[in-house]
Amino acid sequence: MTSLNYQPWKIDAAAFPSAGSFRDQLAFLVNYAVLAPSGHNTQPWKFIVSENKMILAPEWSRDLPKSDPAHRQLFISLGCALENLLIAAGQFGLNASVTYPSDTEENIILSFDVWDRSKHSSPLFAAIPDRRSHRGSYFPEFPSENMPPLLELALPDTQIEIVRDERRFGLADLSIKAGIAAMTDDFRDELSQYVIPNYSNRMVGMPGKCHNMPLPVSMIAGWLIKRVNVAKMNEGVERKLLERASPAFGIVTAIGDSRRDWIRAGQTFERAALHATWRGMATAPLAAAVQVGDFFRDVQKILGTMMRPLVMFRIGYPKKSAPHSPRLPASTVTQLA
Ligand SMILES: Cc1cc2nc3c(=O)[nH]c(=O)nc-3n(C[C@H](O)[C@H](O)[C@H](O)COP(=O)(O)O)c2cc1C
Repeated sequence: MTSLNYQPWKIDAAAFPSAGSFRDQLAFLVNYAVLAPSGHNTQPWKFIVSENKMILAPEWSRDLPKSDPAHRQLFISLGCALENLLIAAGQFGLNASVTYPSDTEENIILSFDVWDRSKHSSPLFAAIPDRRSHRGSYFPEFPSENMPPLLELALPDTQIEIVRDERRFGLADLSIKAGIAAMTDDFRDELSQYVIPNYSNRMVGMPGKCHNMPLPVSMIAGWLIKRVNVAKMNEGVERKLLERASPAFGIVTAIGDSRRDWIRAGQTFERAALHATWRGMATAPLAAAVQVGDFFRDVQKILGTMMRPLVMFRIGYPKKSAPHSPRLPASTVTQLA
């Protein structure tokens, strides 16, 4: 039997309340939004649903003040949830228009009306409950035919770069250096609260098994992270993974570094992650090089771009399967207005 904190992955599209109220239909979409990835699996979102409108807003009690003081990762995560919501809406014949927040606002506002269901279903919909961050080894091959469809997924004013040539060693090196630099006492203290034992019934946070940890290690991981720079300790393993078991890195860039850019970059990343899942590939975000200090400038140099790199991820065909991480059920993050 699936334990409660993994139950949200068991969503059944047949349960869509076709005969229910419009508000119930919108609330159903939240079941897909909550399966989105988020920094440290904080799930920093809430959904306020009314008759033909929905507000997707930050849940500030689940932000990351130490590692994400500007809330960049938070709004990228909201963008991922928004994209799942829009894909699910299309699948059930609902059309949404989106109003993005300015930098002094925080709500993403969605207005809905009904359209013809048959035209808007997407293969990405079925990938939503299959996607997970896959932090294991990938095969070396990355067939060229994967590239064009991935690049086309980017929303206007964002871009996806897929790096397969020798520049990927530069990106791997930056990711490792930024990961080590990130590990201040405050950062480690915060991270330690989100790495949880494999058997935990918590609904928020990352079970050690999602980071390739066996049960005993997962049980002491929080304690260890608080005391040691684990990124430094694991440098050799990480280098091997990024250099020898990661055939390609994806980078989502945007025209700027505003809340709107973060949300749209999150949407573009989620499209890429779902497309990869649909095609039997896997993805794993690596925030350090685009989040910590000025490392993003070195990423820009490697890519030869003035665009702002906002999401970096590994992409490829995984050698083994990877576990899901837990989720808060839609009902706990939805308010009916
Ligand atoms: C904005 C963002 C940044 C992330 N950064 C990292 C990262 O640096 N390292 C990592 O291992 N996972 C990272 N992740 C993946 C999350 O930890 C993951 O999405 C979360 O634990 C939920 O697991 P799932 O993606 O398997 O559903 C990131 C995800 C998002 C959306």
